[in-house]
Amino acid sequence: MARPSTTRRALLIGLPIAVLASGVLAAPDKRMTAFKTPWCGCCGGWIAHMRQAGWTVEVVDREDLAAIRAQHGIPDRLASCHTAVVGAYAIEGHVPASDVDRLLRERPAARALSAPGMPAGSPGMEAAGREPYTTVLILNDGSARVFGRHNGA
Ligand code: CU
Ligand code: CU
Repeated sequence: MARPSTTRRALLIGLPIAVLASGVLAAPDKRMTAFKTPWCGCCGGWIAHMRQAGWTVEVVDREDLAAIRAQHGIPDRLASCHTAVVGAYAIEGHVPASDVDRLLRERPAARALSAPGMPAGSPGMEAAGREPYTTVLILNDGSARVFGRHNGA
């Protein structure tokens, strides 16, 4: 019976190709480096949120994050408590994972995505209550525009 064995062989060969074609293995690996200060607790909350969303987060403690922010062109008025780096983008502060995913899907010409300040109710800031806030895209020319709206903003 040559036929069944041929079919089985085709299945064995075909399956890995189907997995590849489905894009499962081609999905970008979700890795980031998060720079935070040693004494900041809410950063840990945000990192936990990102890990829960499937990210592998390498954490680097720095006593002063100003140099990292300057390197990524994040002005003081749009700064927060920690800065993560994903490829060429910086993620400043308590940006929801859904916004990071959208950023990497849309890949706008920009240097950073920020949730300026410490908005209450953003990921890692749940204990502070809840307020409307926006995330802000910092473009390559230094200008900024609203990217995402959260908590009814
Ligand atoms: Cu914070
Ligand atoms: Cu933080």
